[in-house]
Amino acid sequence: KMILGPHMRSPACSHLLVFLLAQFITAFCLFAYVRLTRDPGPDLWPGLPSTLTTQPGNKMATPQIGSELTILLWTWPFGQRTDLRKCTEFFDIQDCHITANRSWYHKADAVIVHHRDVCYNRKALPQGPRTPSQRWIWFNLESPSHSPNLGFMDHLFNLTMSYRRDSDIFTPYGWLEVLSQPQNFSIPAKSKLVAWAVSNWSPASHRVKYYGELKKYIQVDIYGSHHMPLPRDKQLSILSQYKFYLAFENSLHEDYITEKLWKNALGSGAVPVVLGPPRENYERFLPSDAFIHIDDFPTAQGLAQYLQELDKDQVRYQRYFQWRTWLKPSEPPFWALHFCKACQALQVTERYQSIPALAKWFQ
Ligand SMILES: *[C@@H]1O[C@H](CO)[C@@H](O)[C@H](O)[C@H]1NC(C)=O
Ligand SMILES: *[C@@H]1O[C@H](CO)[C@@H](O)[C@H](O)[C@H]1NC(C)=O
Ligand SMILES: *[C@@H]1O[C@H](CO)[C@@H](O)[C@H](O)[C@H]1NC(C)=O
Repeated sequence: KMILGPHMRSPACSHLLVFLLAQFITAFCLFAYVRLTRDPGPDLWPGLPSTLTTQPGNKMATPQIGSELTILLWTWPFGQRTDLRKCTEFFDIQDCHITANRSWYHKADAVIVHHRDVCYNRKALPQGPRTPSQRWIWFNLESPSHSPNLGFMDHLFNLTMSYRRDSDIFTPYGWLEVLSQPQNFSIPAKSKLVAWAVSNWSPASHRVKYYGELKKYIQVDIYGSHHMPLPRDKQLSILSQYKFYLAFENSLHEDYITEKLWKNALGSGAVPVVLGPPRENYERFLPSDAFIHIDDFPTAQGLAQYLQELDKDQVRYQRYFQWRTWLKPSEPPFWALHFCKACQALQVTERYQSIPALAKWFQ
């Protein structure tokens, strides 16, 4: 109902329309499915783990009505205590008791184990016996290339929680929300061309090599350690001055699309130039005219030329913002929403996958 406005006529709009329709159909299928079980919570976009609807799996023990589930955070992610929020703020569900106090281990209905904090030593994993109904949730937002010792995790976990769409608990770095009213998005004032913020500079990496080619043909301003400083509180205002932002992922894996796209580029109103999984994968999360993919061009020189053309052609540049009439990028409040998604899944999801060979699955 919200997408068939009379003003949707230009080619870019019809792309958006196709995207919205495709997403709508998928969303509808999931919605219909979730409605059969329980309230799905707020309308997140797109966030649709297809396995929810198709794969048989283990049946969840139905939680007793009235009893609040306890979720133990085996560690704080990366050892850093973070704010917790009431899950009723995010979802129409019963709240969970979320704690990092290990005295609760024997009583916990679920234990969230954050990969990076336990992967260097098997003994860092929970050792005590678990009750028959206790579920262990493997939690990881890093890519397989940066997730050591995945083999340690085999035959331990009941649910997966990651950026992969086929996780039991899908926790992406960002998503689009559909606006209830169309908006006139105003593009931030632009005075510069291409920015890239990079903290992990490895000369042998695909992205640094690609940059090495690109910079021969176009000026790229680099921020991050060993480069221009980008203080957290100024990040948005600095990056928003750029027409383009290089959202180059550190490794290429399906669905591995991070805050480089959601926060640095889309969050600051710069057009993302992405290096990551193939274009089709991005299009599961974004309209096709919301970003530029390096694979759209045979060479870095071709990309540079295209960016320079757009720089001189305001009308074509503006087309990269048309999707914002109906859609708004959004990011999770780290890490509170992630934990609450687990709380929701434990109550709502009827079946989960149980992947014994985790290392084989997470590639
Ligand atoms: C952990 O929980 C136990 C049992 O509820 C309590 O006695 C203890 O004080 C808690 N520890 C901390 C550090 O909060
Ligand atoms: C969770 O997985 C472990 C390891 O595969 C298994 O022994 C246990 O029965 C499972 N628990 C539940 C509640 O599914
Ligand atoms: C958007 O801009 C158009 C044309 O400038 C105007 O007619 C319309 O009222 C604006 N819509 C909103 C929501 O501001």
